[in-house]
Amino acid sequence: MTDSTLPRHIAVIMDGNGRWAQQRGLARSEGHRAGAGAVCALVRECRALGIPFVTLYAFSRENWQRPQTEVSFLFELFTRFVREELPGLLEQDIRLSMIGERTDLPFAARRAMDYAIQRTAACRGMVLTLALSYSGREEIVRAARALAATGLPPGEWTEESFRRGLYDPDLPDPDLLIRTSGELRISNFLLFQSAYTELYFSPGLWPDFDAAALREALQSYAERRRRFGRVEDDRDRHGEGDAGGSGQ
Ligand code: IPE
Ligand code: IPE
Ligand code: MG
Repeated sequence: MTDSTLPRHIAVIMDGNGRWAQQRGLARSEGHRAGAGAVCALVRECRALGIPFVTLYAFSRENWQRPQTEVSFLFELFTRFVREELPGLLEQDIRLSMIGERTDLPFAARRAMDYAIQRTAACRGMVLTLALSYSGREEIVRAARALAATGLPPGEWTEESFRRGLYDPDLPDPDLLIRTSGELRISNFLLFQSAYTELYFSPGLWPDFDAAALREALQSYAERRRRFGRVEDDRDRHGEGDAGGSGQ
C-alpha cells in the first residue's frame, strides 16, 4: 500500500457490539464498552497512517428505539469517551466534528461534544467525525429544506448548492465505507455522500476490529478500480479525476 492507494476518507458502521457481549454471556453494555476501545485503536491507526478524514457511525436516529437503559448507557459512554479522549485528540492534533441532530442529544453529551469540538477546532492532523442521532434520509430532507429556504428557484438547484445544506458541507465523500459484523446494508448512513464509495464488509464484530482488520480493509481498497462511471483508464485508480468524490 502506498499513500496514493490509501483512502482519504474512511467511514465506519461500527456494528456487532451486542453480539460480541452476547457471545461472552455479558450484558450488551459490556460490548459497547469494548467497542469504545476499538474506536481508540482505529483512530490512532488512521492518524498514524495519515488518513485525513475518519467518520464513525456511533448512533443512528433509529437507535432511539432501543431500550431506554441501553440508550442512556450509550450516551453516558459517549460523554465519558469524549471527555477522557480530549487530551489524546489534542496531542494527536485531531479535530473532532459531529454530524447528526445535535439538539436530540442529552444535555451532558451535547455539552461534552461542543466543548471538545471547540477545543480541537485548530487541530489539523485529522478530522474525526462522530455521527450521532444521524439519519441519511433526514440529512437529505434537511438539505432540501435549507435550499428551499434560500429562495433560489428550484430550476437553479444543483448538487453543489444542495451539499451546502448537509450537516458538514466540507466533509469530502467517503472513499471507503467499512461495516463490521457481517451485515450487508448501509442502515441509513451517508446516503447522499456514498454514491461512489467503495464498500467493505467485514465478518468480525466491532470490538474485535483491530489494526490487522483495518489493514485487510485497506488492502482490499488498494486493489479496487474506481471508475466513476467511465471506461477504465489508469488515471481512474484511487480518486484521480474523481467525479464528485473526495478529490473535488
Ligand atoms: C453497534 O452495535 C453499536 C450501536 C448501534 C450503537 P450493536 O449494538 O448494533 O450490536 P449488535 O448489532 O446488536 O450486535
Ligand atoms: C447501524 O447499526 C448504526 C450504528 C452502527 C450506529 P444498527 O445495529 O443500528 O443497524 P441495523 O439495525 O442492524 O440495520
Ligand atoms: Mg447492530
